[in-house]
Amino acid sequence: MDIAVVDGALEVTLPAGKRLTRHPIWLRERLPDPRVVDSTTGQRLIEAALLPLDLKITRAQCLRGQVTVGFSDGFEATIPQAWFSHDAEPPASGDLPDHVILWDSRLAPLPGAHLDALKNSEAALAAFLNALQAHGFAIVQGVPVELDGALDFAGIIGPIRYTNWGGLADVKAIPNAYDLTMTPRHLESHTDNPYRDSVPAYVLLHCLQNDATGGESTLVDGFHAATLLKTRDPAAFEVLTRTPVYFRYADSDSLLENRGTLIELDHHGRITQVRYSNRTELVEARPLAELDAFYRARRAFFDLIQHDPALTLSFKLMPGELMMMDNHRLLHGRRPYLLDTGARHMRQCYMDRDVVQSRRNVLNRRRPPLDSAEKHPV
Ligand code: OGA
Ligand code: ZN
Repeated sequence: MDIAVVDGALEVTLPAGKRLTRHPIWLRERLPDPRVVDSTTGQRLIEAALLPLDLKITRAQCLRGQVTVGFSDGFEATIPQAWFSHDAEPPASGDLPDHVILWDSRLAPLPGAHLDALKNSEAALAAFLNALQAHGFAIVQGVPVELDGALDFAGIIGPIRYTNWGGLADVKAIPNAYDLTMTPRHLESHTDNPYRDSVPAYVLLHCLQNDATGGESTLVDGFHAATLLKTRDPAAFEVLTRTPVYFRYADSDSLLENRGTLIELDHHGRITQVRYSNRTELVEARPLAELDAFYRARRAFFDLIQHDPALTLSFKLMPGELMMMDNHRLLHGRRPYLLDTGARHMRQCYMDRDVVQSRRNVLNRRRPPLDSAEKHPV
């Protein structure tokens, strides 16, 4: 590894030839040195904002795998050479977050695993969570066919998210339904609960009974649909990324509201979330031309997520199966079912992204992932 000081900053050339430039304050405020960062928690001890704004690196030297750096205020530290490669990730690029694998109706086999394997093997759970990250969903088999069976699976990942509907809630037809979910009606492709703040990141849908005619589940990869829209109709894509939409849910004891765009981009311009909830969407009264553009763009997105058979996966969940899906990426729905031919009973709960991501990070840290999803990021 080569190092040099250029204009008070550090220039590092990694053994693979990659070149890094490090700002003197950036380097100083994260130095792996017990005077700067607590060695147990990894949390910063110094008040970073008070470092001299004209701080410079005055000297640097690499000897037998150790880098010694001196600063203009007299501070000196020695860092293992390997530390520099940790921060050498390539900058984000492309239209999508890392590790996403786009899919369409031909996806087979569906990603998934048996609950026993997930309980007994951390490698299996890591592979499951990596596949969930790659495809935006995965199916668990062998979940107890009991009212709280889904918690048996959820418990191996982390806490579920409680809402005004409680923890694990029924999805089945009832008289005087408070939500269209609780009827035998079809449910168009949608994302759940865009009216919540924050929007639940994962939906866990557990099947207890599904023997009525109909009731198949549908799934569409919303990131795939959004990238197709961007290619085919860039103006529509752009409109959906900038028109804020209001979502609202009201019943006798709750009034939930939030805003967001139908396609949301992160600060790198990559697609980070889709929202589609015909039942609860109320776009604001904007100037006529803006609404014209919005309605045209919404139709173009709708045609991809509701009508395009090439994008829609369809399958029937069986008792003991649980589908876990990324509610910021996938659109899900169900076909109608006939009440007099049998019964359909699902139970559903939500989980926050940080819970799932942390579990996956920790498992991957313990064991480098072998899953193909990690080897072939899009
Ligand atoms: C819902 C939902 C799916 C199903 O309740 O929002 O999408 O299979 N249910 O009933
Ligand atoms: Zn739903």
